[in-house]
Amino acid sequence: MTVLPNILPIMKRVAIFASGSGSNAENIAHYFEGRSLIDIRMILTNNPDAFVLERAAKLGIPSAVFTRKELNETNRVLELLKQEEVEWIILAGFLLKVPESLIHAFDGKIVNIHPALLPKFGGKGMYGDRVHQAVVDAGERESGITIHYVNENYDEGAVIAQEKCVVLPTDNADDVAHKVHALEYEYFPRVIERLMLQNSL
Ligand code: GRF
Repeated sequence: MTVLPNILPIMKRVAIFASGSGSNAENIAHYFEGRSLIDIRMILTNNPDAFVLERAAKLGIPSAVFTRKELNETNRVLELLKQEEVEWIILAGFLLKVPESLIHAFDGKIVNIHPALLPKFGGKGMYGDRVHQAVVDAGERESGITIHYVNENYDEGAVIAQEKCVVLPTDNADDVAHKVHALEYEYFPRVIERLMLQNSL
């Protein structure tokens, strides 16, 4: 009997962490609808008022809220992830530092998106519009996105992909934000897809 190699990618169980609007989380969910590559088991947030919770409800994806204390000082988040047999964590606008316990439990399987070209404009306190304002203030002629693995330090894990956009001298922080969001929506799901495929082989 001939045994055929299993060339079908195996579905990965994923959790998305987000702290705010969650437009990237929703975009990722839509991208993978009808594809059997990733199964978004849950959307987790540290912010009970985050709009991502409404998006999750509409998408029919289970969600949960945890506190900073629970994240850092208890096993609650790890237990939630274990219950759903989550294998990969995608940070999409998640503002808290990921504790070492989680980084070790998901070694090399936590991915973040940063709305600038790291190593520039990264680190603690550099998120959202602050990043875009800093880019404008520095007179940069380009910005973009960095998708990277997460390690113990903010925005310092190995880079997986970067995509760039032009910053015009007349652009304000909002203009840059629009361009960067467009890159996020176009590339983040595709990079996740590529990573999952690479890890299925
Ligand atoms: C994105 O710009 C992402 O790069 C950054 O936070 C923002 C989140 O936006 N880390 P949203 O919540 O996905 O709309």
